[in-house]
Amino acid sequence: MPIQYHETSQTFHLTNRWFSYIFKINHEGYLIQLYCGSRIRDKENFDELYELACRPMATNYYQDDRTYSLEHLKQEFPGAFGADMRKGAIEIEGKDGTKYTDFRFESFRIEPGKLELEGLPACYVEEEAEATTLVITLKDEHLQVRAHLLYTLYEQLPVLTRSVRVENDSENEVRIEALTSLNVDLPDDNYERLMLTGAWARERHIEWEPLHSGYQSVYSLRGHSSHNFNPFLALKRPSTTEESGEVLGFALIYSGNFEASVDVDTYHTSRIQIGMNRDTFAWLLEPGTSFQSPEAVMVYSDQGLNKMSQAFHTLFGRRLARGVWRDKARPILLNSWEGVYFDFTEEKILNMAKEAANLGVELFVLDDGWFQGRNSDWTSLGDWVADEEKLPDGLDTLCSKICDLGLKFGLWIEPEMVNVESDLYRAHPDWRLEIAGRHISAGRHQYVLDFTNPAVVDAVAKMLFKVFDGLNISYVKWDMNRSLTEVGSTYWNASHQQSLYHRFILGVYDLYERLIERYPNILFESCASGGGRFDPGMMYYAPQAWTSDDTDGVERLKIQYGTSMLYPISSMGSHVSASPNHQLHRNTPLEFRADVAYFGTFGYELNPASLSDEEKVLVKEQIRFMKEYRELIQLGTFYRLKSPFEGNETAWMVVSQDRKIAIVAYYRVIQEINTAYRRLPLQGLDPEQTYTVSDRDGMFYGDELEKIGLIISDSSASENNDGKNEGDFLSRMWILKAV
Ligand code: DGJ
Repeated sequence: MPIQYHETSQTFHLTNRWFSYIFKINHEGYLIQLYCGSRIRDKENFDELYELACRPMATNYYQDDRTYSLEHLKQEFPGAFGADMRKGAIEIEGKDGTKYTDFRFESFRIEPGKLELEGLPACYVEEEAEATTLVITLKDEHLQVRAHLLYTLYEQLPVLTRSVRVENDSENEVRIEALTSLNVDLPDDNYERLMLTGAWARERHIEWEPLHSGYQSVYSLRGHSSHNFNPFLALKRPSTTEESGEVLGFALIYSGNFEASVDVDTYHTSRIQIGMNRDTFAWLLEPGTSFQSPEAVMVYSDQGLNKMSQAFHTLFGRRLARGVWRDKARPILLNSWEGVYFDFTEEKILNMAKEAANLGVELFVLDDGWFQGRNSDWTSLGDWVADEEKLPDGLDTLCSKICDLGLKFGLWIEPEMVNVESDLYRAHPDWRLEIAGRHISAGRHQYVLDFTNPAVVDAVAKMLFKVFDGLNISYVKWDMNRSLTEVGSTYWNASHQQSLYHRFILGVYDLYERLIERYPNILFESCASGGGRFDPGMMYYAPQAWTSDDTDGVERLKIQYGTSMLYPISSMGSHVSASPNHQLHRNTPLEFRADVAYFGTFGYELNPASLSDEEKVLVKEQIRFMKEYRELIQLGTFYRLKSPFEGNETAWMVVSQDRKIAIVAYYRVIQEINTAYRRLPLQGLDPEQTYTVSDRDGMFYGDELEKIGLIISDSSASENNDGKNEGDFLSRMWILKAV
């Protein structure tokens, strides 16, 4: 039984092959965290881990027991504004106006499988036997409010998920002011904290920082998970590397404002919390109703960061992403954006499509600019009908002409937004998010529709149904190009205004759900000015996301490397674009750009008509290569070997599930001269197996390639070098095959 309850010690032991998570109910009914780490054998009693101490200045629960203080106990669901002295997992304003909370154990149940979360994205199981769920019910007697803690332990993955459902069983309305999805109190602070940080065109760069005393967090207040921080944090031991050592990863399956924090107290215990950002959240809970928090995921690895990432990849790729595309290699596409931007006619698009079809592309994506009057980013968002000047025969005709070329057809939309210059805004000026009487900020000259109002979501859904129904469409790119500001809604009264950030995301999820239900075969790609909403929440609806607007190969090394911390290769939109690059104006070889873009969903984002004949030959070969190896690349096991954040070189590899074939990729940004000899130790191979390595003679054992590595020494500056290993922006790939 993966979840044990020991009656005599009132202890829960959640354990699988990899880790143990142990907590107990104490004599006051509080849930006390005892251990979270590498798997240990089960036993009846772990009470030696229940540490009490007499500490001066502590506030004690009882006058006559100076050892018992909530401040010194490690908790699972700490209340707020009591003797715990740290941020609580839940704050509720009751009818007396205080926000103190105090939840005690009431009951529990253990059941096979996993529960669905209504209206919210969440991991799932396909068979009940894949996971076990523990539901613990706690109650605040004074408020008459219950909290159901949902823990799901996966059998075949080092994964524990957790969320909370709060139920108002009183006769009064209460207001939830803060609710974290997961709280873990760890007994020490000997960790380094990994964050994914960034900006537009510089998403998910890796930053490390040793834990220090006090509160440290990453967060979003932008209404979307953001380019700036990802809803993720990992804690690794200082000696942990990609291949060895202990690491705990935490992610939130949510696309709105979040906070992922660690609070290190004076005794060096570390409180980890991840959930909706409490600064922009409050929820009025009527009597008899309940509220479900988003789901948090914890991944444990004692074999380094790569193993943590691989567990996230499997979980997100196979048990969070849904639909027919989940397990399939993705189509190679040509996206029109960087090729023509807004400046196109039907003829121009068809020319691009013809060229693309000749090169072997499978899917043509018509990006922004196809709808009524959309010739710049000043107009037309909200008017989802084809532009009569650019597409006089309509979308249907364009789509069938493209399909006649043997291509699939895809389209760009940005459903959450409106321009003032649009029929939608003229008809419904009250449908944008704004605070009455206040200034409203613009972003990319556009405004955010009030997706907290179900009528708005309905209206947008109807418009989109009209576009997609009957259209032979295979792919949709759902974009979102500005953050939320001055959030207010005329649809809701004053007491609900603080719930709007969350309601907005629920509206987005609702529209996504309707679209994927109605068009189950469409492949959705999410996007928010590149990777501004690249989060686990979106993956439930769209199995792939546009990783960044930055298509420069060098920049992409860092972006894709950082993204791979928790997102699978199959989720990373990656395209080869023109040189000089449109974001950085850097020239890089076509080979280098493709060698980087292969490690994602792969496509092109340029006008193929402007490629030279020589380049076309190369592109054809690249597409042929990707068709042969995409299944391995997108669905294999990914290993990071060399970090672009640590130097001039990057390397990564993928290995097939049966370890019979692997691809190793190595990138060197700047040519160095007369360098040292270098070897690249590989990962994930079968140690007993012999492999051939493309471009090398002979055979190599798996363990040899892992322990000694591939020779990657640079031959520059030698008299007889053939120039193959020279120059800036060098990339090399090797295919390893078992023989
Ligand atoms: C931002 C996206 O990230 C780009 O790929 C492109 O779709 C533009 N929006 C279109 O406006």
